[in-house]
Order: sequence, then C-alpha cells, then structure tokens
Amino acid sequence: MRILILGSGGRECAFAWKLAQEIPKENIFIAPGNAGTSKYGTNVELGLKDFEAIGRFCCAHSIDTILPGSEESLVAGIRNYFEANTDLNSIYIFGPDQTGALLEGSKDFAKQFMVKYGIPTAKYQSFVKGQEIMAKAFLKTMNPPYVIKADGLAAGKGVVIPETLTEAEIVVDQMLTNNQFGEASHTIVIEEFLKGIEVSFFVMTDGENYILLPEAKDYKRIGENDTGPNTGGMGAVSPVNFVSESFKNKVINSIIIPTIAGLRKEAIDYKGFIFIGIINVNDQPIVIEYNCRMGDPETEVVIPRLKTRLSDLLKLAKEKKISTIDTEIFEDYCATVMLVSEGYPGKYSIGKPIEIGPIVNSIIFDAGTTLNNKRLQTNGGRVMAISSYGKTMENALANSYASINKVTFEGKTFRTDIGKDLL
Ligand code: AMP
Ligand code: GLY
Repeated sequence: MRILILGSGGRECAFAWKLAQEIPKENIFIAPGNAGTSKYGTNVELGLKDFEAIGRFCCAHSIDTILPGSEESLVAGIRNYFEANTDLNSIYIFGPDQTGALLEGSKDFAKQFMVKYGIPTAKYQSFVKGQEIMAKAFLKTMNPPYVIKADGLAAGKGVVIPETLTEAEIVVDQMLTNNQFGEASHTIVIEEFLKGIEVSFFVMTDGENYILLPEAKDYKRIGENDTGPNTGGMGAVSPVNFVSESFKNKVINSIIIPTIAGLRKEAIDYKGFIFIGIINVNDQPIVIEYNCRMGDPETEVVIPRLKTRLSDLLKLAKEKKISTIDTEIFEDYCATVMLVSEGYPGKYSIGKPIEIGPIVNSIIFDAGTTLNNKRLQTNGGRVMAISSYGKTMENALANSYASINKVTFEGKTFRTDIGKDLL
C-alpha cells in the first residue's frame, strides 16, 4: 500500500502514526501535514481541493490509496474527479463521492434522508430564502430554546440555539435574508431542541458492509464547564461510560443499519467513515448530525484504541470485505486534551517556539505545528493533542495532564475539565 493522507490536523497525525506501525514510512505521504506527520511519512505541499495537483502527485508516486481526513476534499468531489479520470480511477479513495458527502454538506439532505429511512432525529422543517415569514410562523409552533441550522458547511458556526423567539426571528433574518453564511444559509433547518448528553459513533463502511469503531465524547466549547464559543474540539475520551451494550445495540439497529441500507437504496456508493453525532434522550439514541469523515480530536482517542491494522481495514474495504475481520479494540481508556493557541477560536498568533520535555505516558499528535530551521513552533489555533491510555478514565486523563506540564509555548491554553462530567 502506498497511501496519501489529506489534511494537517491531529486526526491526520493519528492516522499516520497508526499506519507507520504497519507499513514502511516510505509508503506514507501526508498533504500538507504538520511537524508531527513528518515523523511518520513524507509531507507534501498540496491544496486539499487542488485535485489536478493531487492526481499528478499520485501518478508520479504510485499512490494506490487516498485517505481524506477532513470533509473539504470530499464535499468538493475528490472521488468524482478521480473516478472520471482514466489515469486516476484505479486509486482507491476511502471517502464518499459528492452525493454521499451531502450527509455532512447539507443538513436538509441529511434530515430528509433520516426521515425517509425512519432514523430517529429531531422534528424539523426546512426553509429557503424568501420563506422568512413561514419560518417565523413555524418558530411560533415550537418551544424554546430554538435550534436553527444553516444547511451548508459554515466552519462549525452554522448552528445557533437562541433562547427567545425574538432572537430566533433575528437569526432567521440573518441567515436567510442577510446571507450570513453565504450560499450555506440560503436554506435553513429549524428543529426541535433535544435535551440529553452527546456521544459520537464511528463507522467504517465499504459500501456494503461496515464495522463499528469505539465511540467517543468530545468537548466542543473553549471554556471550562462547556462555556464560551464552539471550537473544533478541546479534548475527547473513549469509551464513554453511559454507552451500555443495550444503548449500543439501539444505535446499531435503529441508526447504523438503516443508514447503510438507506445509502444503498439511494444508490449512493458510500465508502469511508461515517461519524454519527448522537444525543442520548432518556436512553434513546437520536441523531444530531452526520459527518462524512472522522472527528478531530475524536480520532486521537479512537485510533489509539484500534488494535486491528488500519491498513488491513482499508485493503479489505477496497475488496468490499471490511466486515470479514474481527475488529479488535484495546480495553484501555484513552483520553486526549488539546493544547491551543491563546485567543483560539478567535484571533491568535503563530510562530511560538515549542519546548517538549520527556513524555512517558502519552502520545503527542501534532496539529498546528511546523518546523522552522528544525525548531518546532506553533502554526495554528489547535497546536497538539496529548493522548494517553489508562486502566480507568481518571488514569488516562491524569497521564495527559501530567504530560501537558512538560510542553511549553507562549499562550499555551487548554481545558482542565475534559472527561470530568463523566466521572
Ligand atoms: P451540529 O453541527 O448539527 O452537530 O450541531 C452543533 C451542536 O449543536 C451539536 O453538537 C449540539 O450540541 C447542538 N445541537 C444541534 N442540534 C441540536 C438539537 N436538535 N437539540 C439540542 N442541541 C442541538
Ligand atoms: N470534533 C468534532 C468534529 O470533528 O466535527
């Protein structure tokens, strides 16, 4: 296998770390990667949507497999581009085509899909530009708080949960009338607010069969006790203690099986990861969202717990035999804490030198880092994920927090309460 991983975050670093234990590093390429990924393979300067350049690189370097990390290349249609090109269509891309990626790329599409296939999700209605009056009338039939979502990708900012009707009406105007998120908010979804605790499930599918990866919980807000603005994620833990066997079976039977079957009925050739954001309402799993990729930082706890070789899973997926292997999972807990730059998710500066003392009980997955004259420095809002195993979640977290003390850079910021709500 000669593989190209697309992306530059902790997620892609975790994929590269795992693959480097399985196949020669000479066969691993990461575009564009970060300082961490360069330890596990070769970083390549390629734009995630520059399919022509990606294609040329794959031909020149005999790449046979592409693993897209983020939704960006998938939603933009990397698979469609490769499949339509005779020089490239033998390269296996583990990700959905543009239609499959709509599960993440269009909330309205995902809602219609769930309703059609009886998959539990919050009651909703969608509205397009020009239907502001209808949208506001619908709001009056709902109870506060109100959940309003821009249909398309909006860099994680497209979901607003106003407390009052007046605020909700303003959000409708901002999204539909004032194009707050451009095209992405020309359609909006208004849905029922669900109260419960969230957990994420991850599926790998070859289009016919699937395997379930360990579940995880992430911590999205910047501040302690889930306060302040949303981020890409400030930490994650796996497994999640309220996920019992019976809850997991409900997820499989009422969500995963109908999702895979629905995709096939729609003739969507979906291969790749499906990330299912679930809310547990009185022990019933309800889908909040689908993503067409793994989560970040969830990958930094899920991949370390995967004992089965990722390269084997990808090879089997290519042969449409992914479920012929018994996926093995390490029993240990894994926790990750994200170190971010001061100011993130708002304005922050980069180029701060990073010093790392001896780390014994953790794995560092680089995110926004780079090497400047061989010196490690910050290069983004999310700098690195510090992941650790433990026999208990407390141990895993204690290991990560001990390692964090060994990492220094100006403006180092992190949450001290990852996993605490589950203890
Ligand atoms: P999404 O981008 O759809 O995952 O939404 C972002 C976040 O908004 C989720 O992680 C939830 O915390 C929250 N959220 C979305 N939909 C709902 C809902 N129907 N009820 C309660 N919270 C929601
Ligand atoms: N951590 C949430 C996400 O990757 O979407």
